Amino acid sequence: MFRGEKMADLEGFREAGEVKVGSSCCADNFYLKGCNHLDWGMKNRMARIIKPDTGRTVMLAVDHGYFQGPTSGLEVMEETLAPLAGHADCLMLTRGILRTSVSPGVQAPIVLRVSGGQSVLTELSNETLNVAVEDCVRLNVSGMALSIYVGAPYEHQTLLAFAKLIDAGHSAGIPILAVTAVGRDMARDARYLALSSRIAAEMGANIVKTYYCENFERVTQTCPVPIVMAGGKKLPEIEALEMAYNAVKRGAVGVDMGRNIFQSDCPVGMIKAVKSVVHHEEEPQKAIKIYEDEKKTLKL
Ligand code: R5P
Repeated sequence: MFRGEKMADLEGFREAGEVKVGSSCCADNFYLKGCNHLDWGMKNRMARIIKPDTGRTVMLAVDHGYFQGPTSGLEVMEETLAPLAGHADCLMLTRGILRTSVSPGVQAPIVLRVSGGQSVLTELSNETLNVAVEDCVRLNVSGMALSIYVGAPYEHQTLLAFAKLIDAGHSAGIPILAVTAVGRDMARDARYLALSSRIAAEMGANIVKTYYCENFERVTQTCPVPIVMAGGKKLPEIEALEMAYNAVKRGAVGVDMGRNIFQSDCPVGMIKAVKSVVHHEEEPQKAIKIYEDEKKTLKL
C-alpha cells in the first residue's frame, strides 16, 4: 500500500454507537431442562432436535434394521423416508441407511444410532458402541443414540459403553440420547423406567428415550433431562395418539416413534396427527381427523 492510500475498509467507516450499561447478549436461560450449563454447540444441536418454538419434538425412529434386518414398512428405506422426512422434526437411524438412503440435502437433523452388535436372533440383549465419534462429526449429526440394558445380563457392558460415548459426545459437542428399557422381559412400570432413565441422566445423557407407563410423571419428573416417549409396537392410530398425548401432558418433550408411524396405512397422515398432538396438545379425537383426512386423499 502506498503512503497516503486509504484501506478500502476504512472508506465510509462508522464508529460504533452508544451502548447502555447492562445491555445483554443472549444471556437468557435455555428452554430445555438440564441444558443450561452446556456449551453453545451442544445447545445448538439440542435446539435442532427439540424445537425452540414449542420445546417439543417428533422424532421418527427408523433404525430397526440394525438388529431386525428388513422390517415391515422399512423394506426400501428411500420409499419410506421420501414422503416422511420433510415432516419429521428429527430422524433416528443408522449410518448405513444415512449414507445409502438419505439425501445430504435433508433438512431434518439426524440422531445417529451408535450402538449395535447383536441381532434379533440371539437370546440376550447385548450391544456396545459401534460408531466412532469422528464419523458422527463427519456425518454432521445432531445427536448420538445408544441403548442401555439396565437390569439385564449385559447391564455393566452397555453402561460402560455408554460412559465412553458420553465422554466422546462432550468432547465433540454432540448430545447423547439414551435408549432405555429395551430388551426382553423388562418390566415397563414407572419404578423401573424411572430407575433406568435416572441412571442414564446421572451418567450424562442429554435426552432419554423411554416407554410410556402408568404414573409416567414419576419418570419424567425424576429425570433431570428431557424425555422422549418410545412408540413401541403398532397400535390402532387413535391409541397411539392418546399415548403421545398422555406422554406430553405428563412431562415428555415429545416422541421418538417408529412403527406407529411407518406401519400406519397412512404414514404421512399419522406423523402430521402426532405432530399436532405433541406440538400443540391437540386432543387425540381431533388429531385423528388429520390422519383420516390425509388418508382420504390416498384414495382419490
Ligand atoms: C429401540 O431400541 C430402537 O431405537 C427401535 O428400533 C426404535 O426406536 C423403535 O421404535 P418404535 O418402537 O416406535 O417402532
